[in-house]
Amino acid sequence: MQLPIPEPYRIKMVEPIYPSTRKEREQWIREAKYNLFNLRSEQVIIDLLTDSGTGAMSSAQWAEIMLGDESYAGASSYYKLKQTIKDIFGFDYFLPTHQGRAAENVLFSTLIGVGNAGVGKLVPGNSHFDTTKGHIEFRGAHAIDCTINEAFDTQVEHPFKGNVDLEKLEKVFKTYPREQIPVCMLTITCNSSGGQPVSMENVKAVSGLCKKYKVPLYIDSARFAENAYFIKIREPGYQNKTIPEIVRELYSYADGMTMSSKKDGIVNIGGFIGFRDEETFKKASTFNIMFEGFNTYGGMAGRDMGALSVGLREATQFEYLESRINQVAYLGKKLTDAGIVVQRPYGGHAIFVDAKRFFPNVPKEEFIAQTLGIELYKEGGIRGVEIGTLLADRDPETRQERYPALELLRLAIPRRTYTNAHMDYVAAALINLKERSAEIKHGYRIIREAPIMRHFTVELEPVQQ
Ligand code: F0G
Repeated sequence: MQLPIPEPYRIKMVEPIYPSTRKEREQWIREAKYNLFNLRSEQVIIDLLTDSGTGAMSSAQWAEIMLGDESYAGASSYYKLKQTIKDIFGFDYFLPTHQGRAAENVLFSTLIGVGNAGVGKLVPGNSHFDTTKGHIEFRGAHAIDCTINEAFDTQVEHPFKGNVDLEKLEKVFKTYPREQIPVCMLTITCNSSGGQPVSMENVKAVSGLCKKYKVPLYIDSARFAENAYFIKIREPGYQNKTIPEIVRELYSYADGMTMSSKKDGIVNIGGFIGFRDEETFKKASTFNIMFEGFNTYGGMAGRDMGALSVGLREATQFEYLESRINQVAYLGKKLTDAGIVVQRPYGGHAIFVDAKRFFPNVPKEEFIAQTLGIELYKEGGIRGVEIGTLLADRDPETRQERYPALELLRLAIPRRTYTNAHMDYVAAALINLKERSAEIKHGYRIIREAPIMRHFTVELEPVQQ
C-alpha cells in the first residue's frame, strides 16, 4: 500500500473553536447586517475569509520573535531578512513595509509618481489584485489586464491560467510610448483569476518583451512559492529542479518585486519591496521613510522581520508546499465529486465556488455569491468571501451596478491552520446546502453602502423576510 503524505509538521499549540448552533448563527449574521466582515471571529467555526496573515507560525519562527532586535537603525533582524531575500530572490536591495499594499504605494510613488502624475499612464499585467489596481488608479493611471482568455472560463483546464497573453501585452507596448508605461506588473500566483500560476516560459517571454520595450518588470509575489510548486509539478523541464532553484530562475527575469508577506511569508503582518537596481531603491527609500519608516525597519517590528526571514525559507520547502496545495485540492475534489461547480484547475490558495450554478434561481440583482456566503455561514459557521457584484461595485461614473461575468464564493485556506477533517466539514456543509439549493430563490438587498470599497462595510437585508 502506498503511504499517504502526512503533514510535514505536528501541532504544539491549539486554539479552541466555539461550536455554535444554527440558531445562534442566524441571529449573529442578522446582527452583522448580513456582512461576513462584521462577524466576530468567535462566531466563526472555520474561517476561510482569507489566507492572508492567518497562517500558523512554526516553533522556529516563534523563536525568532524572541530574538527580535528592535533598534531603530541597523537592527540585526533587518540584516537577517536582507540575507534571506538575497538568497531566495537574488535581490541586493529591499525595503520593509507593513504589508503588500504599502509596498505598492511606495513602489508606485517611485515609478508612476504622486498626486495625478499617473494620468495618461498605463500599467499592463495579468489581472492585477484589487489593491494594486487601486494604487494605480489612485494616481490617475490605468491597469491593463493582458491575461490569457482561458482564465475567464472557470471550466477550461489549462495548467497556467495566470499567464499573460503576449500579443495583448505587445500591443500595449506598440500602441503607447515608453514614457506612458512606467512598469509592467506580473502577479504570481494570479489571485484574481483564481490562484492560478504563471509558467516560467511565460515569465521569461514577458521579461523579454519588457526588455525589448525598455519597461521595468516587477512581480507581485504574495504567493510566489505556490507558483514555483506548480511550475515544478506542471511545466516540462522543471521536475528535477528544487523550489529554491525555480524561484531564483524566475526572479532572474525581473527588475524587482512587491511582497505581501502575510501569504507565502507565513507571518501575520508584513511586506517588502525587492530591487535589482540601486538607483530605484534609493528613490523609493525616500517614500518608504515618509510612509512606512526608516529603511531598516519600514513598517515592521524587528521581531516580525526575524519571523519573516524564517517563514520565507519554510515556504519554499517542497514537502510543505505539497501538503498545502494538496489540502486545497482535497477540498476541491470533494466538492467536484459531489457535483458542485468550482473553478478549474484548483488554485494554490483557495477554491472558488461558482455561485450562479449553485443558486440558479437567485436573481443577479440579489447578490448571488453573497447569498451563498451567508447560507454557508448559517449552515456550518464557515466564512468565505464574495467575489461578485458587491466586490465589483458600481460604475464610478454612471453609479449603475456592474455585474461581473462570474459570481464566486472564495474559500481561502490559511497555511498550516486547519486539518483535512476541517475540510471534510466544509465540504459536508456545502453538500447539504446543495441538496436544497433549488429552494433558495431570493437573496439580499443593500440598505447602506460606502461610495467605494463597499463590500467591506455594506449592510444588507433579505429580499424576503
Ligand atoms: N497582491 C496580491 C496578489 C494579494 O492577494 C494581496 C492581498 C495583495 C497584493 C495586498 O497585500 O493585503 O498585504 O496589503 N490579498 C488578500 C486576500 C487581502 O485576501 O487575497 P496586503
